[in-house]
Amino acid sequence: MIRTIAIDGPAASGKTVVGRNLARCLDFWFLDTGVMYRAVTWLALKEGIQPDDAEGLGRLAEAVKVRPLSKDGDSVKIAGRSVGPQLRENQVNQNVSLVSRHSGVRRALVEQQRRYAHEVLQDDQGMEARDSRRGIVMIGRDIGTVVMPDAELKVFLTASARQRAIRRWREMNERGDIVDLESVLAEIEARDAIDSSRDDSPLLPADDAWQLDTSDLAVEEVVEAILRKSEVR
Ligand code: CDP
Repeated sequence: MIRTIAIDGPAASGKTVVGRNLARCLDFWFLDTGVMYRAVTWLALKEGIQPDDAEGLGRLAEAVKVRPLSKDGDSVKIAGRSVGPQLRENQVNQNVSLVSRHSGVRRALVEQQRRYAHEVLQDDQGMEARDSRRGIVMIGRDIGTVVMPDAELKVFLTASARQRAIRRWREMNERGDIVDLESVLAEIEARDAIDSSRDDSPLLPADDAWQLDTSDLAVEEVVEAILRKSEVR
């Protein structure tokens, strides 16, 4: 039985919902690293640190601890505050990729992500008493390449930009955020461009990643496909 699954892919490729459902099916831990970058971005905006201030952002990311709060991973504790829905606000969407470009920010968060995986996986005995979960699903942009290069299963999810925009637009509508599809598409494409072209750990499939185009697949079909793949390993 494998214990480490890395899922990477561009914005709105379905990583979050797929990763969360997969972790539930396998009774694994779940860590959405995107939420950590969003939390640092949220705090930086609050404190007036500009998205191009590499040093200030690096210092901020070094100084704070970002911990997932819920099992679903959609809220975190940062600098003593609990934040959830704020992490999906427009201001954060528009700035998160600019903040995530900086090596100082990445170094600090990657270290926290590795420590989290180590803590939940390493101490089997101690953990067993408190929790039965024996593995972790981690999702992001650089999990298979940088954060967990030894992950036993690496998945890279893709879908056309329009398909991804439609998914995100539906999600936002369901939450009551009324936005037009074209502006969601533009934001996703802008974020993809920054994430793919940055110098430090750009969005890229690991050489040994299994690539899956989810354009025509429902969430359950993607989860099923990954479950099948994880069994043959
Ligand atoms: O949910 P969505 O796909 O829209 O994005 P996310 O996973 O919440 O990530 C938000 C942003 O954080 C990304 O666009 C990246 O700029 C950054 N990020 C990153 O650089 N590295 C990661 N491991 C995860 C997210």
